[in-house]
Amino acid sequence: MTDALLTPNQPVRDDHYAPVWQRSIDDPEGFWLETAELIDWHRKPTRAVEMRSDTEWRWFPDGELNTCYNAVDRHVEAGNGDRTAIIYDSAMTGTQSRISYAELQEHVARFAGVLRNAGVGVGDRVLIYLPMIPEAIISMLACARIGAIHSVVFGGFASSELAVRLNDAEPKVIVTTNGGLEPNRVVEYLPIIEKALARSSDSVETVIVAERSRIPGSAADYQGGPVRYLDWKEAECAAEPVAPVPVPANHPAYILYTSGTTGNPKGIVRDTGGHAVALTRSMSKIYGIGAGDVFWTASDVGWVVGHSYIVYAPLLAGATTLIYEGKPVGTPDSGAFFRVIEQYGVKVLFTAPTAVRAIRREDPELEGANRHDISSLEALFLAGERTDPETYHWLNDGLHCPVIDHWWQTETGWAICVNPRGIELLPSKPGSTSVPCPGVDLRILDAAGNDVTEPGVEGNIALKLPLPPGYLLTVWGDPERFSRSYLEAFPGYYATGDSGYVDEDGFVYVMGRTDDVINVAGHRLSTGALEEVLAMHDAVAEAAVVGVADALKGSRAYGIVTLKHGFEVEDAVLEKELVALVREHIGPVAAFRDVAVVARLPKTRSGKILRKTIRQILDGEKYQVPPTIEDITVLDDLLALAPQPDVVPATGMFTVPIRTVAQN
Ligand code: COA
Ligand code: AMP
Repeated sequence: MTDALLTPNQPVRDDHYAPVWQRSIDDPEGFWLETAELIDWHRKPTRAVEMRSDTEWRWFPDGELNTCYNAVDRHVEAGNGDRTAIIYDSAMTGTQSRISYAELQEHVARFAGVLRNAGVGVGDRVLIYLPMIPEAIISMLACARIGAIHSVVFGGFASSELAVRLNDAEPKVIVTTNGGLEPNRVVEYLPIIEKALARSSDSVETVIVAERSRIPGSAADYQGGPVRYLDWKEAECAAEPVAPVPVPANHPAYILYTSGTTGNPKGIVRDTGGHAVALTRSMSKIYGIGAGDVFWTASDVGWVVGHSYIVYAPLLAGATTLIYEGKPVGTPDSGAFFRVIEQYGVKVLFTAPTAVRAIRREDPELEGANRHDISSLEALFLAGERTDPETYHWLNDGLHCPVIDHWWQTETGWAICVNPRGIELLPSKPGSTSVPCPGVDLRILDAAGNDVTEPGVEGNIALKLPLPPGYLLTVWGDPERFSRSYLEAFPGYYATGDSGYVDEDGFVYVMGRTDDVINVAGHRLSTGALEEVLAMHDAVAEAAVVGVADALKGSRAYGIVTLKHGFEVEDAVLEKELVALVREHIGPVAAFRDVAVVARLPKTRSGKILRKTIRQILDGEKYQVPPTIEDITVLDDLLALAPQPDVVPATGMFTVPIRTVAQN
């Protein structure tokens, strides 16, 4: 970090980034206790952070609150019950509707009663498997209202992924629907639920089904089994509204599973108090959004971006959130986003670079934006994957408002680095995610853990402990995995699993993962999990999966397999079966299409698969061959798959400046 941005001893001004950031680091107690005033507490905290040990901390340890009260009731009590809380726009069904804060309070209180009737109490888990419909928000808030812990699973995951999450979280209740709508098909949820239940432990007692018209399947079709199926509407009629239940600030708000390097996803646990405080602050200080503004996050409630910025943060801030069921292109065309911005007066849009690339591919002149009046739009935020400078320039030049790339993870729940337009809009630098958020002490560490935070030096991006409020508390049911995955590599720091560097102005450039996690269309996938699925096939001896460059999705998974000795199967047949296997076990979201059979996988003499070399070859890059390679001729098969015939091996040692952090 250089002095240019982070000058100490400046008078603290809240319209300048540098002094605000500096104060958050020098005086976290004062900074965060003041920020805690943004929300209503049942019992006000007297302390901001408590360090229980070098690796364990808690935010607002003696505070008590209810997040649902803060996101809903307090706005109604303040006389803003008529204000729109949720706009629902489904490009799939043509439905457009609004829910006021008063109506939301009624729905949420009643659905909390439904959960209560199903035996859900403080600390019980509820798994939510819903598409982009208002019931997703209502059920999440209803959990928060009664201190239940929700775990939302993205609709694009298959039943086995759902089963893994059921087994880990052990929910009492599942909240779901009969169907989701994808452009070319109906995704029937209930058969997926049934299959997952058959593979999981028997914690689930009740499945509540929000039925959508004209979609097959209903709760009634599943009566008589060991699990009770209830129709949402009928259950609601039978329930009494329930008041918010205050919980300790450290009570888990939710579990959200994310890919690690193995097939077992990690259940990221978020706290209640730190989460509510940090998200409320972020609306004004990061996004520049206040009460009554329309804020649209075009993502999915199944991802962290959706949790924080479709559901909690906009409502905590009293703003209007927009839940959009549709795609950036094809529903019906690449003007869809601009239609929505115009129609609802969206002030800030938050989406993923892949969505922008999809629009650009269909509408390179950005005519969709010109066809609509998008003058309400003040800023467009991007996250989920690196925004390449080309995409950035195309969008920034084509829109009249700033385009802001910001970096975060499921683990952090809100931004790590951003251009904080709510404090001060700094000059933008394409390719950079701007500067660390207040509360984030970011360092670049070398493989040995030495602090090498000097302009231009690339290394592991690590965050000094304690992490800011709202970042992960632990891994569900496995605190040791939390330590192993994030805290042990660099004592005193959280290892982000990303590499990057800082420039002379303190701007951060995030360059990619240091582990075997890949990012497909902003969705995080574990190559290890994909390899495990490929290895399930009878014919497959070994499998390696790498993320190769993709013009639309940023990267996509590419599988390389070898066959068991004596096994005869046509390559084309096997490839088709493997693609189907991944779809069945991980889900369509993996978008897995590329797989090739080779005679042998390139390995070091100690048997380590050379994934980096494989990826470089498949990407047509100059590749580096480690001196420890077992047999260089093995690369011939891969070279035949490479897009460029003239790939020339780089000479010299295979050096990896970045330490691979085992984010297992
Ligand atoms: N339920 C069921 N299936 C789903 C799904 C859901 N909620 N979401 C996606 N899928 C399916 C799609 O139908 C598709 O299936 P197919 O193979 O049968 O066509 C598959 O998963 C891959 O989907 P997707 O990655 O969305 O690719 P796409 O080609 O359909 O669309 C984009 C491409 C760019 C439009 C799309 O990836 C997109 O909008 N991305 C935004 C990413 C995002 O919001 N990320 C969140 C992090 S901020
Ligand atoms: P997820 O947990 O699914 O949100 O994925 C988090 C990962 O996505 C990060 O660790 C990064 O590798 C990547 N990522 C997210 N946002 C950005 C960004 N703005 N720039 C670069 N990488 C990003």
